[in-house]
Amino acid sequence: METLFDKLHRVDPEYYTEEYVAKLSAQLERIRSLKRKRNAVLLAHNYQRPEIFEIADFTGDSLGLSLEAGKVKSADVIVFCGVHFMAETAKIVSPDKTVLLPHLGAGCALADTANAVDLEQRITELKKQFSDLQTVCYVNTTADVKALCDACCTSSNAVSVVKAMPAKNVLFVPDQNLARHVALHVPDKNVIAWDGYCYVHHQITPESVESIRKQVPGIKVLVHPECRDDVLKLADAALSTSGMIEYAQASDAQQFLAVTECGLSDMLQINVPEKQFFRACKICRFMKMISLDDVEASLEKMQFEITLSDEVRLKAQRSLDRMFELTGGARDNLKLPAYVADE
Ligand code: 13P
Ligand code: SF4
Repeated sequence: METLFDKLHRVDPEYYTEEYVAKLSAQLERIRSLKRKRNAVLLAHNYQRPEIFEIADFTGDSLGLSLEAGKVKSADVIVFCGVHFMAETAKIVSPDKTVLLPHLGAGCALADTANAVDLEQRITELKKQFSDLQTVCYVNTTADVKALCDACCTSSNAVSVVKAMPAKNVLFVPDQNLARHVALHVPDKNVIAWDGYCYVHHQITPESVESIRKQVPGIKVLVHPECRDDVLKLADAALSTSGMIEYAQASDAQQFLAVTECGLSDMLQINVPEKQFFRACKICRFMKMISLDDVEASLEKMQFEITLSDEVRLKAQRSLDRMFELTGGARDNLKLPAYVADE
């Protein structure tokens, strides 16, 4: 059976030395016992550090994590290893649980590009022009912003949600790249994009993807829809992080390029060891903020608790419920092409 050292060493042989993995191993045991003491479950996003996956009860993309957080029944505490808006989402769908984010610095630069005051103003202005306007927010938004929107969506169901909105004019907040991707797949709607973007995905260039494709003919290129459109055009499929893992597992291909945050490449190497993964990725400093030390301290001191006012929570919950109603928790079709050529 593969040991923890084998697994982590495969991801990064220089970082995960025998000595360091032995230290992590002892710490993982302490965290397991703290989890039992606190009756806690631990949810982790696919971009987290590999050692965090070892103590996670569930790993997934934003959609999977919000569905899983809503299903937590017997545990009292949810430790959320991801970023702040994800922990807020867990609190929205599981309000009676104590939700802990182990590091308060774990924010999201994309979520920070939209605040509630500016959004309210923009909605008011646009409604003068488009009386039917509805607002869809990407899950990478604060609870305050979700509270102002008609429906929420994630990278795995954005196309289905916008398609199902009962309005021709849809304001899409905050990611302009995802908005552009949605607009291509829902041509009968007028998708108005907010001007935010993710600094991590925005740094990935078409040249970096093309150079790997030249070196490895036949490689399957999987691109996250937060990438720029000149990168999305090069994709065999545009997928959420969990969509990429499912695609790599199901495909007959042996070589893949996951164009997104680097943690996903680590995740793929751990979960699909028989296939080969190349990298054209960048690191999200927010997603890498939580260490095992933070998780241990979080469970010891019960920090840092996520709280929301009832008013914001209930309104934000409506926009998440709408997403679940419109999609039934399902993902957009996996075979969805990344790019629809101009007619
Ligand atoms: P996923 O929902 O696809 O995991 O994406 C979350 C995210 O923050 C991407 O940058
Ligand atoms: Fe936010 Fe981008 Fe980091 Fe995802 S990768 S958490 S969108 S900053």
